[in-house]
Amino acid sequence: MNQTDHPGLVSGISQPEDERDAILRPRVLAEFLGQQALKDNLAVFIQAARQRNEPLDHVFLIGPPGLGKTTLAGIVSREMEAEFKLTSAPALEKPKDLAGVLTTLAPKSVFFIDEIHRLKPAIEEMLYMAMEDGELDFIIGQGPAARTVRIPLPPFTLVGATTRAGMVSSPLISRFGITLRLGFYESADVMAIIRRSAGILDVRLDEAAAALLAAASRGTPRVANRLLRRMRDFAQVAGTQLVTRRIVQDGLSRLEIDQYGLERHDRDVLTAIIEKYGGGPVGAETLAVSTGESVETLEDYVEPYLMQAGFVMRTPRGRVATPLAYQHLGYRSPNEAERLPF
Ligand SMILES: Nc1ncnc2c1ncn2[C@@H]1O[C@H](COP(=O)(O)OP(=O)(O)O)[C@@H](O)[C@H]1O
Ligand SMILES: [Mg+2]
Repeated sequence: MNQTDHPGLVSGISQPEDERDAILRPRVLAEFLGQQALKDNLAVFIQAARQRNEPLDHVFLIGPPGLGKTTLAGIVSREMEAEFKLTSAPALEKPKDLAGVLTTLAPKSVFFIDEIHRLKPAIEEMLYMAMEDGELDFIIGQGPAARTVRIPLPPFTLVGATTRAGMVSSPLISRFGITLRLGFYESADVMAIIRRSAGILDVRLDEAAAALLAAASRGTPRVANRLLRRMRDFAQVAGTQLVTRRIVQDGLSRLEIDQYGLERHDRDVLTAIIEKYGGGPVGAETLAVSTGESVETLEDYVEPYLMQAGFVMRTPRGRVATPLAYQHLGYRSPNEAERLPF
């Protein structure tokens, strides 16, 4: 891991400290704020499955880090009153790892596989059959003595999550009955999340402070919670009980986070596109190398928000800096320069 691969303060990537925030994690659907359309649909599917006394159909969750995929998986299990088992694709190394979990699930369990785009092919094959037929083919022994035994599985719901839907094979995607896409949260929803978290953490903050904080949170609940805790620190050390607009303004500037939630690394990426590549288009690989990070980090964690906020456009020939990016970083945009007479 090189230096810039280290997740920053406004990164949606989960950091060890975030685990302390288990108390902030919504436990039931009613506590899950925002994403209204998604929630309404999920509520119907859950109610219908419960009425039929069946496990919920397999659920595929897609979205950038920090938007609530793991949270939703837990909520599904609780709303279904089912047991919850959680793993991550890289932890499933051998078919027997997967078989071990599947064969020991309580009936109707919710089995959550995070980062499902990283499944090994042999495990993915096994999962196809488990999802579709509720069975496993397990090979016992080796060489000519090897034989296949078919093992029936308890009925279960697979919840698979990924930040990169494009890397999940279509046979796997087609076996999920329910697909839920999480987008960045609207600012009113982020504000509601900040208020809820402030209530739980016993932090007092005024409306203006909440609005500023929401604007800097990149539409991402995990970032909002993290920034809220930092602002609580700044307020506390400044000897005040109330997080004000002033505290947030000073706090964000000390953290080098601007009003759009961009931190220094984001600005470096934009600057590279503008200065080194004439505003683009520049390919992801080239851009990743010149900003010292992996393509995966760039594509999963940096770009989605830069695109959503209108700083970068993706074109077939590569990434392009938008006029907003020029303006925000204090450059004269190329179009503007053309229009000027000198
Ligand atoms: N809709 C939501 N309402 C309130 N808090 C949320 C919501 N979604 C996520 N969070 C908060 O953000 C944190 C990160 O969510 P998480 O489910 O771990 O994201 P992901 O798995 O997509 O990376 C959670 O611990 C929770 O506190
Ligand atoms: Mg997660």
